[in-house]
Amino acid sequence: MRVLLFTGKGGVGKTTVAAATAVMAARAGARTLVMSTDPANSPADFFDLPVGEATTPIAPGRWAEQIDAQSRLERNWRDIQEYMVQLMNWAGVETIQAEELSVIPGLDEIFSLIDVKTHVEEGRWDLLVVDCAPTAETLRLLSLPEVMSWYIERIFPIQRRVVQGVRPVVSRMTTLPIAGDRFFAAVERLHRNLDAVRRILTDAATSSVRLVLNLEKMVISEARRTYTYLALFGYRVDAVIVNRVLPEDVTDPYFATWKDIQAEHLRTVRESFEPVPIFPARLFDREMVGLELLEAMGREVYGDRPVTDVLFRDEPMRVRRRAGGYVLSLRLPFASREDLDVYRRGDELFVRVGSYKRNLILPASLQRLDVRGATFVGDHLEIAFGREPERGSAETGRA
Ligand SMILES: Nc1ncnc2c1ncn2[C@@H]1O[C@H](COP(=O)(O)OP(=O)(O)OP(=O)(O)O)[C@@H](O)[C@H]1O
Ligand SMILES: [Mg+2]
Repeated sequence: MRVLLFTGKGGVGKTTVAAATAVMAARAGARTLVMSTDPANSPADFFDLPVGEATTPIAPGRWAEQIDAQSRLERNWRDIQEYMVQLMNWAGVETIQAEELSVIPGLDEIFSLIDVKTHVEEGRWDLLVVDCAPTAETLRLLSLPEVMSWYIERIFPIQRRVVQGVRPVVSRMTTLPIAGDRFFAAVERLHRNLDAVRRILTDAATSSVRLVLNLEKMVISEARRTYTYLALFGYRVDAVIVNRVLPEDVTDPYFATWKDIQAEHLRTVRESFEPVPIFPARLFDREMVGLELLEAMGREVYGDRPVTDVLFRDEPMRVRRRAGGYVLSLRLPFASREDLDVYRRGDELFVRVGSYKRNLILPASLQRLDVRGATFVGDHLEIAFGREPERGSAETGRA
């Protein structure tokens, strides 16, 4: 089973390229399902066919799915929401406002990722094509399972133990609503699901991200940032698709400058992403609706390559032994040196690049050691761990 995630800045052609990929895969005999993390944006539109609530066949071997966001939210969130609303009511917030507040932005997208997990576990498909929301949201979204797991693992078990011990006492003494077992069960279920999603999406053999971009300055800078942050979170990019390239045979002088600009940007793209394979797709002379056009695009993008293969392998994180300690190596392409903060606390390593943070549980061999320093070697961040604490705190090393 393969999972291909398509992401990129708004409007670059993510949905189109995702649909074209699905068509190619289905042509090659893969049982293919297309799904979207954005409820307002359905890949089904591109097949020019109605797609209902359930999984719908859109052609032999090709299927699409449009899930009712509301019912999915209810399924995953109701028991948690109930308690949050009670708490807010208790604090004096009106029910209708409490209900609105209890739906955290982005939940929809998280729950569509849980659908990815469901599909992978069911094993009915060879390929799952996931059309992701524009880049910024997708990043936040992709990092969420890990971040949320972190909170849930540390905060809820404690609360649960406390609540189980004191519930009878507290409910006799105060009117504060106490979370019931349904709430804890729902939180634990959510945690298990998110953890499973994260494991699937960071598994190199199963999941790959394909970055879609256009030859425009802002689009390229955003794609470069995305690439850095995907690496930071352990997601692997196996191809970059450059969409809307002006074809060679367009010779109208009106487009001459555009062609020069595109050629220049294409150089930047190569310098930025190679050795990740870069596949161009031309600007077609019409809107990309219907199977035929999608297939034509798919052939241009992938040629004879098997679209479901892992097209490029990269290792986001590595630990090596070095005299007196270890070196943890993270591939962080384009990350700027000035904007970096690395430190360890207990069994965790905190890495911050710009406004993004990651905390990871260190391998056992590193947990007893201190961070001795961090340097960039090429596009890898090398974090040295050693036995002797450097000047200053024995508990926290800062680089
Ligand atoms: N190579 C191309 N040639 C011609 N038209 C294209 C090409 N790629 C995409 N389009 C058209 O551009 C429009 C936007 O494409 P698409 O919806 O795939 O972008 P998107 O990145 O998914 O957008 P959003 O961020 O809103 O989800 C569509 O009308 C599509 O048909
Ligand atoms: Mg789209």
